[in-house]
Amino acid sequence: MQINNVSKMLLHWYGDNKRDLPIRLTKDPYKIWISEIMLQQTQMKTAIPYYTRWIDKFPTLELVAKAKSDKILKSWEGLGYYRRCLNFHKASKIVINKYNGRIPNEYEPFKALPGVGEYTAGAVLSIAFGIALPAIDGNVRRVMSRFKGIKNFTKRNKIIIYNSIVSLFNKINPGDINQALMEVGALVCFPINPLCNKCPLSYQCKALKNGNPELYPN
Ligand code: ADE
Repeated sequence: MQINNVSKMLLHWYGDNKRDLPIRLTKDPYKIWISEIMLQQTQMKTAIPYYTRWIDKFPTLELVAKAKSDKILKSWEGLGYYRRCLNFHKASKIVINKYNGRIPNEYEPFKALPGVGEYTAGAVLSIAFGIALPAIDGNVRRVMSRFKGIKNFTKRNKIIIYNSIVSLFNKINPGDINQALMEVGALVCFPINPLCNKCPLSYQCKALKNGNPELYPN
């Protein structure tokens, strides 16, 4: 089967299985950005009520930039890793002052903002702007390692994973492909006891072909 069919299967599965998440109800880059920052070190079910309250309190990035640090931190209280919050506050001021309130829709300037790493840049730019960048978090890395039969994260293997995600984008919204891979990681491709019979990638999964997906990556 062609690689193109892999993305079709993946997308089809995503349409049928994706969770109904408040973060999926928006294309506002600000809201997608804050959700991805919250989700960096926090589980979805924990992050969602924080996300909803945050958006209630700060419906726009400008309101974040204008708020005092203590007010911002108060809304983050309980989420931990407070540097995420302080960096986001800093970044909001840069966007308002340097970019006239427009979140940069290109990799270099967006990635240069405080608290934005490779994953966050890929996630926000692909989901909010449809830019063809992979968003490789721990889940996606596991899914793709198994799919490609990769056991360890050498530099070369990271490039293989990156490029094989890019090849899935072909004429499909990259934000959907990225989120579909995240959902496969969260709902099917568990570290232990993965549900391979429910997986849209199983028919071409090298780790499954080799016998035991749990051995990938190690
Ligand atoms: N984890 C982090 N960001 C996510 C997203 N956009 N969808 C699903 N899981 C995620």
